[in-house]
Amino acid sequence: MPGSTIAFDVYGTLVDPLEMGLHLQGMVGEKADDLSRLWREKQLEYAFRRGLMQRYEPFSVCTLQALDYALSVLQLRLSEEQIQFLMAQYQQLDAYADVIPGIESLNAQGYQCVAFSNGPAVKVRELLENAQVLEHLSDVVSVDEIKTYKPNPVVYEHLVQRTGCSSENTWLISSNAWDVMGAKSAGLNAAWIQRSDSAVFDPWGIEPDLIVQNVQQLAEKIGRI
Ligand code: LAC
Repeated sequence: MPGSTIAFDVYGTLVDPLEMGLHLQGMVGEKADDLSRLWREKQLEYAFRRGLMQRYEPFSVCTLQALDYALSVLQLRLSEEQIQFLMAQYQQLDAYADVIPGIESLNAQGYQCVAFSNGPAVKVRELLENAQVLEHLSDVVSVDEIKTYKPNPVVYEHLVQRTGCSSENTWLISSNAWDVMGAKSAGLNAAWIQRSDSAVFDPWGIEPDLIVQNVQQLAEKIGRI
């Protein structure tokens, strides 16, 4: 419904973290894919665990410690300069090609589009500015404002409070099934962006309201729901 808030997850939804694999290739060769995947999995796991343990640290700490862990598991070693380079590149990820046209179309239809991320707002703004997405969004909402992580229901309540739109008129859009399920469980609408055919939605019986392959498809379909 026009007037509704559309809140986009950032990493994996608007920008591609697996792009880091390209930088890793030059550093660790054929182990780059494994390192990239394990790094991302551990980054998320560390955020989940920090949320549960009430040991909040900014998302960049989860990212850095997850890299450290993944390097140890794969018996790899990087210099301090290489690690700093990778952390800097994490702020330089490109937007998927469908993101800007999709958000422009949603804005034209009267939706209020915001980013909603585990990353602190300053970092997310910098990342989205580099990716030329920020100017198309009306705000950036971060879990850092309440010092816990998705998918704690309080972060979805925080989103609703910050945007001033009711949960019935708020959509969470994410390529992360667990984020979609967290939003649905907290009473929001949610769409899953299935960015690859091999992505599987967790079989918990909590279903998305909409499944699309990209943000442009979302813009075409969301008005018909
Ligand atoms: C985010 C991560 C979870 O942007 O993708 O919140």
